[in-house]
Amino acid sequence: MCGIVGYVGQRSARDVIYKGLERLEYRGYDSAGIAVVLAEDGVGKNFVEKVAGKLKNLQNKVGNLSESSGLGVGHTRWATHGEANEANCHPHISDGITIVHNGIIENYAELRKEIGENRFYSDTDSEIFAHLVADNRAKGMDLSEATRVAFQRLEGNSAFVVIDRDTPDTIIAIRKGASPLVVGVGKNEGLVASDVPALLAHTRDVYYLKENEFVILRHDGAKAFDLDGKEKRIQLEHIEWDADAIDKMGFPHFMLKEVHEQPQAIAETLRPWIVESKEKVRIHVDRMSSGSVVEAVQAAQNIHIVACGTAFYAAMYGQNLIERYVRVSARAELAHEFRYRKPHLRSNDVGIVVSQSGETADTIAAARMMRERGMKVFAITNVRGSSIARECDAVFLMNAGIEICVASTKAFSTMLAVFAALSVGLGVAKGHIDEEQEKEWVGAFLALPSLLEEQLKQGNMIQDIAKDYQNMKGYLYLGRGPYYPMAMEGALKLKELAYVHAEGFAAGELKHGPLALVEDKMLVVAVAPEGSGELHLKTLSNIAEVKSRRGTVLGIGQAKDSHFQDISDRYFSIPTVKLGDLNSILSLVPLQLLAYYISAAKGCEIDQPRNLAKSVTVE
Ligand code: G6P
Repeated sequence: MCGIVGYVGQRSARDVIYKGLERLEYRGYDSAGIAVVLAEDGVGKNFVEKVAGKLKNLQNKVGNLSESSGLGVGHTRWATHGEANEANCHPHISDGITIVHNGIIENYAELRKEIGENRFYSDTDSEIFAHLVADNRAKGMDLSEATRVAFQRLEGNSAFVVIDRDTPDTIIAIRKGASPLVVGVGKNEGLVASDVPALLAHTRDVYYLKENEFVILRHDGAKAFDLDGKEKRIQLEHIEWDADAIDKMGFPHFMLKEVHEQPQAIAETLRPWIVESKEKVRIHVDRMSSGSVVEAVQAAQNIHIVACGTAFYAAMYGQNLIERYVRVSARAELAHEFRYRKPHLRSNDVGIVVSQSGETADTIAAARMMRERGMKVFAITNVRGSSIARECDAVFLMNAGIEICVASTKAFSTMLAVFAALSVGLGVAKGHIDEEQEKEWVGAFLALPSLLEEQLKQGNMIQDIAKDYQNMKGYLYLGRGPYYPMAMEGALKLKELAYVHAEGFAAGELKHGPLALVEDKMLVVAVAPEGSGELHLKTLSNIAEVKSRRGTVLGIGQAKDSHFQDISDRYFSIPTVKLGDLNSILSLVPLQLLAYYISAAKGCEIDQPRNLAKSVTVE
C-alpha cells in the first residue's frame, strides 16, 4: 500500500531512491515519482518527476533530475483518493516542502476546505499535508516542528516523509497507525523506507518507527521523538537477511522462485519448534514466545483467529486443527468483519492474528481491540519488527524469508506449518496428544520439506494441465475439512493472477447452488487427498455429481487413489505424508502452479497483479 523511500547522504539521491523503489514496487504500482533537492550557492531548489503506471515508466525521466543531489524522496502508489494519473502521483510539493505519503487522511474534506480549494492541483488527500507543513514553515517553525504540528491535525493512519528546499541536509519521517516506516543508518548516509528491502543495498542497521513517533534523519544519524517533541532512545537492529532473497535467482518471476523456496521455508519454520533433548525430540510451544502461551490457552474458553486475504484461509485451517488437537473452541474470522461486529469477547479468551506483513490495518485493529478487552493475543507473522509483532503478547515467526510476489505462496504454506506445530504443541501440553503421536508428528514435520521437493519436480505436469484448461468458462475449487481452505486459496490465486472467475467451495455445498454452474466448459478442481477420514469418500461422491453433469474435473489426490483418478479428467498426485493434516500443505503446490501457468499463458503480470498490493495498510 504505497512504497516510500527517502535518502540523505553523499550519493546520488535519485539513483538510490529509484533502486529502492524497485524493491518496494510490490506495495503499489499505480504510479511513481521521485523528487530531489539541489542546493547551489546556499539556495535550495526542488525538482520532481512523476509518471502514471509502473515504476519502469519513470526510468527515462529520472535522468532529468540532477545526479548530484544528495537529498530526495520517492514513492510508488496504490491509489486511494484520486485516480492514478500524473497529477495525483507523489511526491507532492507546496512551496519549499516536498512530501510522500502512505495511508489515508480521514478528515481530508474539512482540511482541504480550510486550506482553500484554489491551492490544490491534485485530487489526493496527501497534498493537504504538504500545504499544512509549508504553512507552518511560513509561520517560522523549523521543519521538524512544522511537520509535527501539521501531523497532529490529521485523523487516520498515515506515514509521511518530508524534505524541505531550505534545509537540504534533513529528512523528517513521521508515522501513526498501520503505515510502516523503517530508518536505515549507513556510513555517512541516512535512508528511510516503507520496508527493509529498499535499504539493504546500503545498510543493515535499521530502526522501525514506533506508533506516534517521528525521526529527524541526517547523513550522520537519526534521532527519534514522540509527538510531543520529547526525544526517545533509538536502538538499531541489525538485519541478517540474505541479499539473494530479493533477486529472482534465474526464475522468470518471483512467484515461481517463491513456490520453489517452500521446502526450505517450511524447514526453517518448523526447525525452532522441534526440540531435541537427550531423551526425545519434541514440539515445544513456549520456547517460541515470550510468555506462557500454554497457560493462556488452558484458561481460554474461545480462541479467535483473525486475518485477511490468504492469511484468513490459513486461519480457517488453524481453526480446524486447534479444535481437533487442542480441544478448545476456535473460530476463524475476517478482521474487517470481526472488528465491527461487536464480538462477545471474554478477557480470558485468546486471540491469534495472522499476517504475513504484520501491517494489515484491519488485522492490527482487531489485535488491539482484543488486547483492550484484556485478552492475550498471539501473532503469526513473517516480519519480526512489524506492528503486529511488536504489539502482541507472543510472536510465532513464520521464517518464510521475504516474499515479493503480491500473490502469497510460501507465506501461506508456512502459516499452515505454524498452525500445525502450534496445535500439536498445545495438544501435547494439554494431554490430548500422547508421546507416541507426538513422535509421529515430529517425523512428519521433518519429512515435509523433502516431500515438497519431490512434488516440485512434477511442476511441468501442471504446466501441461494448465495448457488444456487455460480457456475454460469458469473454475470451481472444491474441498472439505482441511482442504476447504486450500480450495479457497487455490481459487483466490487464480483470480488474482489470471483475472478469471474462480470460486472456492466446501464440497458439500455444491448441491446447494454451485452445481447449477457445472457444464463441460467449467473446470472443477477437486482437492481431495486421503487423510480427511470419512470426508474423503464424501468429496468423491460430490465429484461424481459433477461428472454426471458433464463437468470437467482436475483431481488432486494421492497416486494410490485409483478411484479418484478414474473419475477425474486429469489428475495430479501428491506424495503421501503420514499425518493427513499435512496433505493440505502438499496440495498447495499444484494449486499455486496451476494459477501461475494459466496466468503466464494469458500474458498477465504475475508478480504484480492489477489493482492489488501486497500489504494493505488502510481500511
Ligand atoms: C493483501 C495481499 C494478500 C494478503 C492480504 C493480507 O490483500 O494482496 O496476498 O493475503 O493482504 O496480508 P497480510 O500481510 O496481513 O498477511
